[in-house]
Amino acid sequence: MRLPRRANDAMLERIAAYWQSQLVFVAAKLGIADVLVEGPLTADEIATRVGAHAPYLNRVLRALASLGIFAADPHGRFHLNRLAQTLRSDHPESLRDFALMLVDDYNWSAWGALEHAVRTGSSAFEHVHGAPAFPWMQEHPEKEKMFSASMASISVMENAAVARAYAFGKMQKIVDVGGAHGHLLATILRSYVRLRGVLFDQPQVIQEAARSGFITSPDVSARCETASGDFFDSVPVGADAYVMKYIVHDWDDAKCIRILDNCRRAMASDGRVLVVDHVVAPGNRFDWGKLVDINMMVMLGSKERTKDEFRQLFSLAGLRLKRVIRTASALSIVEAVAG
Ligand SMILES: C[S@@+](CC[C@H](N)C(=O)[O-])C[C@H]1O[C@@H](n2cnc3c(N)ncnc32)[C@H](O)[C@@H]1O
Repeated sequence: MRLPRRANDAMLERIAAYWQSQLVFVAAKLGIADVLVEGPLTADEIATRVGAHAPYLNRVLRALASLGIFAADPHGRFHLNRLAQTLRSDHPESLRDFALMLVDDYNWSAWGALEHAVRTGSSAFEHVHGAPAFPWMQEHPEKEKMFSASMASISVMENAAVARAYAFGKMQKIVDVGGAHGHLLATILRSYVRLRGVLFDQPQVIQEAARSGFITSPDVSARCETASGDFFDSVPVGADAYVMKYIVHDWDDAKCIRILDNCRRAMASDGRVLVVDHVVAPGNRFDWGKLVDINMMVMLGSKERTKDEFRQLFSLAGLRLKRVIRTASALSIVEAVAG
């Protein structure tokens, strides 16, 4: 029989949750899941392959296995299990890049300044690193590359869910505003074979996009153009829809109004804006969006929004919230038309 959990036990688990993040990070960094693809190995064998101290690694793996990540057998060999599979680099829904990015020292130290953010109402990232996150990343291209790769990796499931949730087939042309390497755009174009798309992002990101291969794949490349620029100045004109995934949550209301206003001016007369973000659930229930909201507070001093907050934001940019479409992922599509 399962004993009722004491409040103290539940609280201790939450207090020490960052131990778990570091354990997963180290497993991802060492590439442990990749060396287990061929079959189970002992900690000594893994340590030799990944370049680690065997007795320490054994303890790390034992702790991870106790959290359901890897599984030890009676012969002391560690196996890949369901959760550990997601740390493989070649897994179709790999979270390895995401783990490497989220627990990287620059994010870790920014989260360490959450208290500063809460006391002052300003970005913890800027407090720690001396510059807002996006300009800082431009100065650290290896981090920017890692960030884009990790966004693409978590996007695999999300993007398929977004493509399925909305009838893009009724349109001729869409723009993915701040579309990074084009994973979402390529997923949508693959699902709607007559649709054309424009991938729009900053010049240095668009340059990398061709190399990452999503928009150059033969089934979409002929229907996909790229354009670079600054969405605070303008976005490509004349499309039926302006898709923005993980964009509006990056900015304060004033900046969002500028981006949304630029989309409204650029879109076809019956065009629409499709904001793909978390829509924060009311009440006390667990909602991944409520945690991502704190990440936005720490990293950018920005936020996730409720439906009412979206409605108000759109109206200030001359748009009208038409509906919120849930997807099979944690994200929703918030559709707006000229108001
Ligand atoms: C959080 S990422 C979202 C990427 C992508 N939409 C996705 O869902 O994976 C934000 C994107 O906005 C782009 N971005 C930031 N500032 C921009 C600007 N001023 N003009 C155009 N794109 C910008 C970044 O380069 C980055 O690709």
